Amino acid sequence: MRQHYITTKPHYYTTIIEATPVSLLPTPISVRRDIPFYHAKSEAEFKDDVYERYDELVTRQTGLHLADELHGGYPFQDLLDYILRWLPAADTPLAVADLGCSVGRLAAEIAIRQPASTVYGLDLSYQMLRQGHDFWVKGATLQPNLLRYGFGNPQLKGHQLTNLHFALAKAEELPFPDASLDLILNTFLIDRLPQPLGAFAEWARVLKPGGRLITVSPLNFLKTQSWREAHPPAKIFAQLMGAGWQLEDLMDPLLLDEPMDARGNAVRWKTLAFVASRG
Ligand SMILES: C[S@@+](CC[C@H](N)C(=O)[O-])C[C@H]1O[C@@H](n2cnc3c(N)ncnc32)[C@H](O)[C@@H]1O
Repeated sequence: MRQHYITTKPHYYTTIIEATPVSLLPTPISVRRDIPFYHAKSEAEFKDDVYERYDELVTRQTGLHLADELHGGYPFQDLLDYILRWLPAADTPLAVADLGCSVGRLAAEIAIRQPASTVYGLDLSYQMLRQGHDFWVKGATLQPNLLRYGFGNPQLKGHQLTNLHFALAKAEELPFPDASLDLILNTFLIDRLPQPLGAFAEWARVLKPGGRLITVSPLNFLKTQSWREAHPPAKIFAQLMGAGWQLEDLMDPLLLDEPMDARGNAVRWKTLAFVASRG
């Protein structure tokens, strides 16, 4: 694969001091505290978006994905392991996007293991992205208030990853060029989309030939229409194969337990996990 580099040095310099892979992201519509926006999110959209609620969902996602010490390990380790099986050698340069990344744990795990790769964490919630960016890119120490779950106020020390980039965008309207990504992830996303199967055509557009898509979802749909269209999962696969996707792997169920509190209450998610590729 060819890697492009930018450098501020004039062309007659023979040594490139520091090479940075060119970002696939174009100029954003706007930028808010380091987070580029590729969707002009209206005030009404901000207000209606439950994932923008810092004290509720952002804090919950932080407790789930970033506070392993509270749970005796990463609660979604089986999800992470399912994804890691599909990564090539660490020095293979990949362009990877995690769609609906929330606070960025899975995207960061890939960025750490694949230092030659560029990883993009995209989400529609600014608050989730801000939390992820502060923790994974700026190296901030977070202190989420998890007292109401009995966990207290853990101190979570951040990282300074240079190959992970967060951006606000809709998973259904990606800011990437055609055929530009090697790997797309989406976990616990498709059942939250207004049209759960509608985004797959967009993902096919941005994947390179041979590129892979890893989808993991409890298929816990919000709308009757979605249940009709995508349940049972055979309907999903029929649609994907009809659209030219090849199914490379399928696990049903991949069981994941999301801790609810310090007492050990948990929600068990019966997810469907699959890997599909473009020929
Ligand atoms: C249930 S959370 C899942 C977060 C994480 N991927 C995980 O596995 O726990 C759903 C995430 O998707 C984001 N989201 C919802 N609709 C989206 C859309 N249309 N495009 C991008 N992200 C979206 C939400 O803001 C939220 O962070």
